[in-house]
Amino acid sequence: MSEQNVSSDSLPTENCDHCEAGMYKRFFERERIARKEAEQYLEDKSRELYLSNQKLAALAIKLEEENKRTKADLERRKLLESQLAHAQKMESVGQLAAGMAHELNTPIQFVGDNINFLKTSFEDIETLLNAVDALLSRCRDSQQHLVHVESIDQICDQIELDYLRDEVPLAASQAITGTDTLARIVKAMKVFSHPSTKSFEQIDLNQIVESTINVSRSEWKFHATLKKELCDDLPLVSCIPGELGQALLNLIVNAANAMSSNTSSADSILWVSTRRDGDDAVVEVSDTGCGIPAEIQHRVFDPFFTTKSVGEGTGQGLSISYRIIVKLHKGTLSFDSSVGKGTTFQIRLPLNSTDAATIDDGLVGN
Ligand SMILES: Nc1ncnc2c1ncn2[C@@H]1O[C@H](COP(=O)(O)OP(=O)(O)O)[C@@H](O)[C@H]1O
Ligand SMILES: [Mg+2]
Repeated sequence: MSEQNVSSDSLPTENCDHCEAGMYKRFFERERIARKEAEQYLEDKSRELYLSNQKLAALAIKLEEENKRTKADLERRKLLESQLAHAQKMESVGQLAAGMAHELNTPIQFVGDNINFLKTSFEDIETLLNAVDALLSRCRDSQQHLVHVESIDQICDQIELDYLRDEVPLAASQAITGTDTLARIVKAMKVFSHPSTKSFEQIDLNQIVESTINVSRSEWKFHATLKKELCDDLPLVSCIPGELGQALLNLIVNAANAMSSNTSSADSILWVSTRRDGDDAVVEVSDTGCGIPAEIQHRVFDPFFTTKSVGEGTGQGLSISYRIIVKLHKGTLSFDSSVGKGTTFQIRLPLNSTDAATIDDGLVGN
């Protein structure tokens, strides 16, 4: 606050104390001192206010940070809980599948063996039937034993022998194909669901790919045609087979989902390939589905992010795959997508990995 233009110095001197001017001077002096004190007081209070404001602002920032931390803790906890629930579910499903695979293995084997036995036996019987045919022809040609020939011909007509001779080997071949498929699925279930192996092993990547394709057949077979291109001379890869299978399964299921609304399944191609690229083993899963719009591409690996309706999507698949590939196997998981054309997800796994994580490193925490 600035002083007034009228200063006490310009007023009459002390010897005029009792005059009117002296009173004014004292009055001005008191007022000047009071004003100064007020100014000082105001300044002190302003400073105090300023400091308090600053403290408040710092406190607000701290509070906001605390808030963020609590929110992040909550998110993390939610994620861990859901991962745990998922892991427990997968473990139960895995145990169940392993048990079923074990139970199915024996009957499938003997059904397959018996059909093979019937097929080879029928081939022997066919040799005999050819000989009987020849004998009957000779009898007919020489007009001998015609009564017996006739009764045999009748039986042949009754049992439709010609039809049986054509169809039985065919039926046996089809049954063998069926049991082979069953055996392959059961084998895949065994490999895939093996709950005990949680440690890194040197594994044939193609075997994991085959098993995963087999166990996920029901997800894609109605929507797409499968094309496989598996590298023959891929070196063994250090991985946790069950986890890697899970990561791959999530990609295949997503690819199938992306093609489910395609009008024609003939245009829908699910393409799975493996190859070696330098020091990496590469697995690619491509689809000719809806594609991922650019504006959501940065969110697809986020836990709980989904564009599917409730009950169809959990938003967990890609975040789990990312953890398995990147955190657990020290690989990379990336994708390339074009709306209306399709998407390719690529898994890269280091072939000479020395810094394998533990399962806890990879699946727990961010
Ligand atoms: N192959 C794909 N084609 C199109 N969109 C995909 C594909 N894979 C993933 N997405 C998108 O990423 C989202 C997250 O996938 P994911 O984590 O597996 O969860 P969910 O499948 O349960 O939705 C999906 O909802 C979908 O929008
Ligand atoms: Mg998914």
